[in-house]
Amino acid sequence: MKKIDEDILILAIESSCDETAAAVVKNGRFVLSNIISSQIDLHTLYGGVVPEIASRKHMEQINQVVEQALEQAHVTLADITAVAVTYGPGLVGALLVGVAEAKAIAYAAKKPLVGVHHIEGHISANYIENLDLEPPFICLVVSGGHTHLVVVEDYGRYRILGKTRDDAAGEAYDKVARAIGLGYPGGPKVDKLAKEGNKDAILFPRAQVEGAPYDFSFSGLKSAVLNYINGCEMKGEEFNRADLAASFQNAVVESLVFRTIAAAKENKIDKIAIAGGVASNSALRGAMEEACSLNHFHFYRPSPVFCTDNAAMIGTAGYYEYINGVRHGLDLNAVPNLKLGER
Ligand code: KG4
Ligand code: ZN
Repeated sequence: MKKIDEDILILAIESSCDETAAAVVKNGRFVLSNIISSQIDLHTLYGGVVPEIASRKHMEQINQVVEQALEQAHVTLADITAVAVTYGPGLVGALLVGVAEAKAIAYAAKKPLVGVHHIEGHISANYIENLDLEPPFICLVVSGGHTHLVVVEDYGRYRILGKTRDDAAGEAYDKVARAIGLGYPGGPKVDKLAKEGNKDAILFPRAQVEGAPYDFSFSGLKSAVLNYINGCEMKGEEFNRADLAASFQNAVVESLVFRTIAAAKENKIDKIAIAGGVASNSALRGAMEEACSLNHFHFYRPSPVFCTDNAAMIGTAGYYEYINGVRHGLDLNAVPNLKLGER
């Protein structure tokens, strides 16, 4: 790694799904600004993210979001060391807006361009408020599109232990929320309703994937929830939505915590972090904290604002890529199915 003798300021851009975001991050860990323009209200009308609407809204917002990020950080483009941008995975039309913006700025301001993997961004969100956190550590990444259990071996070096075989954890939350009439995005709403329910009221299955102890599967759980609702409706019985939310959440949280703790033990790593939108879930944060303290592991989690999509996390990941010598050309393209660890 290169020795750093002056401040490195990264202007970061994120537009992979339904938030248009820009941030300025100093030396990888200090967030000077973090602007997020959310499209959630727009997509709520349709019960989920509509890709064409997302792209159009990103185009409308991106210039002002970047300007605000520079303004709030009290810097100009001349002060910036490099421009980092999410180039995958995500919705191709949405990603392209951020990538085009970053390339235009890098070209016009003659700054290096660094493409960042969205999940690497989520993982790196943990560096922001935990100045003592250094690899190696185990990270559970749980978002709307991804569920990964990863060993962060070094900055920018990842070993994937397991993934979901079907739905992502956030996707399961969103589908169950829709089934009980809570609307999009479901995660925060299920989280809130579950606080009023009994998590042991209904026993839902915890799926294991044979021969792959760190893989996840949530489609069976989702079907069990839907079957339970249908069963009640057919019998003309009312069901308690809070109990259902709490019991579903308990099944998700248990399966996430169980595998993460097992992975830390097996790999003899005593630091555990969580990342992604579902990492803002209060039950997951509570249960992981408890399991970590029971096993004498250090537990790291970003503040909720750095769990859901934001550009500060891209600035942090971009910083470590930059000091590792990663540079992209102006031919950088959006890669909707980019794999973690690929360049
Ligand atoms: O990381 P993120 O903002 O976007 C992706 O990269 O996918 O994650 C969004 C996901 C959605 O599925 C949302 O329902 C879920 O994170 N989520 C939550 C909570 N807040 C957001 N799930 C459970 N509990 C929450 N509090
Ligand atoms: Zn995300």
